[in-house]
Amino acid sequence: MTADPTTAPHFPPGFLWGTATAAYQIEGAVREDGRTPSIWDTFSHTPGKVDGGDTGDIAVDHYHRRSQDVALMKELGLGAYRFSVAWPRVQPTGRGPAVQRGLDFYRRLVDELLDAGITPMATLYHWDLPQELEAAGGWPERETAHRFAEFAQLVGEALGDRVNLWATLNEPWCSAFLGYGSGVHAPGRTDPVAALRAAHHLNLAHGLGTQALRGVLPSRAEIAVSLNAAVVRPLTDSDADADARRRIDALATRVFSDPMLHGKYPADLLADTASVTDWSFVHAADLEVIRQPLDALGINYYTPSVVSAAAGGQAVREDGHNASEHSPWIGVDDVNFHRAPGDPTAMGWPVDPTGLYDLLMRFSREAPGLPLLVTENGAAYEDVPDADGVVHDPERIAYLHAHLDATRQAITDGADVRGYFLWSFMDNFEWAYGYAKRFGIVRVDYDTQTRTPKSSAHWYSRVARTNRLPE
Ligand code: NOJ
Repeated sequence: MTADPTTAPHFPPGFLWGTATAAYQIEGAVREDGRTPSIWDTFSHTPGKVDGGDTGDIAVDHYHRRSQDVALMKELGLGAYRFSVAWPRVQPTGRGPAVQRGLDFYRRLVDELLDAGITPMATLYHWDLPQELEAAGGWPERETAHRFAEFAQLVGEALGDRVNLWATLNEPWCSAFLGYGSGVHAPGRTDPVAALRAAHHLNLAHGLGTQALRGVLPSRAEIAVSLNAAVVRPLTDSDADADARRRIDALATRVFSDPMLHGKYPADLLADTASVTDWSFVHAADLEVIRQPLDALGINYYTPSVVSAAAGGQAVREDGHNASEHSPWIGVDDVNFHRAPGDPTAMGWPVDPTGLYDLLMRFSREAPGLPLLVTENGAAYEDVPDADGVVHDPERIAYLHAHLDATRQAITDGADVRGYFLWSFMDNFEWAYGYAKRFGIVRVDYDTQTRTPKSSAHWYSRVARTNRLPE
């Protein structure tokens, strides 16, 4: 009996099997080779902002262990690697010429990846804005988008001969709404107008940055953006809950995907936030700049949200997700957030792979012809090493298996998904949670910086090598 190709566990030929990381979460070496502080250095050194007072000063010392880390990826048979370029390493003040020593680190990284047969994907902005640009106003200021375009051009010129796959921004929702709205991320501001201005200027940075990259990259280069598009589900089928879902979807997803893919801000978003701002910071020509032809859309997915309409009074947050006294949901004070069904990971995030399927199908319908990449997906668990330092992590394997199965199902149902980047290659600095949350498929002993693949790394290695899920 031959296997039915629509149900066979194989992925399409050439599917990219990767892992992902970000500069501030892994590099350390924050004062080396001309690097200056980013907003995350300042924030993590501010008492009370990060659990345990953790900082990225040393992180997992990847800046000095780069070759060893690439060798381990090769040993595991991983085919792709998504990393980010630290802006303050390349352009310490956020303006002016590039620091060659900063660029050299990424040149060597990419050379080693290519030598190992690993496809590099470079993300330009994974949250480490040079502190000097924040001092000049940060993302709420239009000028920051122009600064970003200049940075994109410098990196494009330096790496364009060897990197084909690019992402402008990583999760701009977090930069805008956690950075300037709830304040749980750097720079820690809690100003609703600033958050919406930041969202627009991140969109503009994506557009200007894409134009700048196109100007210097060879035509074969592929440019994407990574969005943490949200899966928002209504608690009941009432009209009021449907409306709560609509409003959160606008603020979580469409505020970025509509201008980037369709050249407009959603009318309902503008109406819902009218009491906060008139959006006059959006200039007439901006939307055409923001809507740049893209080569792929990156989707980062972890867990869904469940919302309902609150009948007046204080909205509740039972889901624990990014809980803070200031809400990131600008202009919304009457939506309840509920715990979604599914077993929680160590982040308290319920496991629900159907959310990933739904997102991939949503964007394959909304942007026909635009290839999709899962640029992040993975889970933190309370990993306990055995006497040899080895972690057996069947829960992480189950999470990955279920989400890869959802991805494969979306492909079967017509979504053009070209690759999957597991978050994360190794344990690292999990932002406001510090080192307490471990997402890696490779364990890092933070005392010795020893790297030890977990069982999930061996499992994923087999998936990558065989291009299929085990039965
Ligand atoms: C999203 C971010 O891009 C990444 O930096 C973070 O560590 C993971 N999600 C897990 O929270």
